[in-house]
Amino acid sequence: MTSTVVQSSVTYPLPKSTLETRRSTIVPVHDDRRPLTTGNLDLRDISPEGDLAEGAPQQSLYYASPRAWLYCGDATDVLTTLNTASVDCIVTSPPYYGQRDYGVAGQLGLEDHPQEYINKLIAVFRQARRVLKPTGSLWVNLGDTYWSGKGRPHGKDAKQKARRFTRPQDKAGERPLCQPKQLLLIPHRFAIAMQDEGWIVRNDNVWRKPRPTPDPVRDRSAASHEYVFHFVTQRKYYYDYSAVSVPSTGQAKRQAPSSVWDIPTVPSQKEHTAVFPPDLALLPVRATCPPDGVFLDPFCGSGTALTAALCQGQGRQVIGIDISAQALVEAQEHVVVAQRPDERRS
Ligand SMILES: C[S@@+](CC[C@H](N)C(=O)[O-])C[C@H]1O[C@@H](n2cnc3c(N)ncnc32)[C@H](O)[C@@H]1O
Repeated sequence: MTSTVVQSSVTYPLPKSTLETRRSTIVPVHDDRRPLTTGNLDLRDISPEGDLAEGAPQQSLYYASPRAWLYCGDATDVLTTLNTASVDCIVTSPPYYGQRDYGVAGQLGLEDHPQEYINKLIAVFRQARRVLKPTGSLWVNLGDTYWSGKGRPHGKDAKQKARRFTRPQDKAGERPLCQPKQLLLIPHRFAIAMQDEGWIVRNDNVWRKPRPTPDPVRDRSAASHEYVFHFVTQRKYYYDYSAVSVPSTGQAKRQAPSSVWDIPTVPSQKEHTAVFPPDLALLPVRATCPPDGVFLDPFCGSGTALTAALCQGQGRQVIGIDISAQALVEAQEHVVVAQRPDERRS
């Protein structure tokens, strides 16, 4: 099996020493030369220090600079405020089903039934589709979940607060789907639901983890992969083949990259508990975000994908959304550093 080893030229995570020790100053000005993709948000509502104003609406602009915007709020709500056909490329990793409690009202992932979760994801990506240019691409990383039905809370790790909660899959479930030991096939259900919505699935890329987290099972294979779906909305779309093609093993000089990506999970120094490896975003950015394009992550967490897009150099602008203000503190730190010319690599 040939797989693509995604080569990163960026040092991640950005060194802590170069991160600002306190939040950077917001630039609450609209530079008229730049396309602001904020639909109906009033930039005057932003406090100069960048803190969410007391009682401010949930879908608030949290940080703005000429190249980056961060919004705090529910993904669907915030997407509704962004302009139609204003984004070139979306790379995101939504909360997986039943894996973490982010401790914020309105968070996705803890729905009683998997179908409810899929329906909510579909609602987010319906808005994402409106915001995406017709030539744009959407990439979604999604892991799977086993139904457990054990009836007791999962996880005892005192340090991992996000994992200490009663997961939906620990409760008695509705059969046949929600029965103990069942792999729910969440990524597949999601992709098929997206097709039913009119999206075109270009690839179900497999993220193979060379050194996966140990999976202590004795009656099935250990889980060591996830999916990264590539969706488009029309037959012709932006794809920079030269930026991602690899030397060919056949007669042609170059060939398309493999749909199997070997990317190690890297121990994260971030506070966010569900960070993905930055290299996961590299191929999507290089292939489907034009050098001066607008990049969006509607579940940006600590800003990994946004940072990857900014660090690819050139003039990309990024928009991040997260419901957790705590996640955005970290995202802002990384995005600020990634915008400094000396931190960018191409
Ligand atoms: C899997 S994490 C993303 C991690 C990110 N890729 C990174 O590397 O840091 C999912 C994120 O979705 C956020 N989230 C959960 N429900 C949300 C919602 N309804 N709208 C927007 N963000 C949400 C969580 O706060 C969390 O930061």
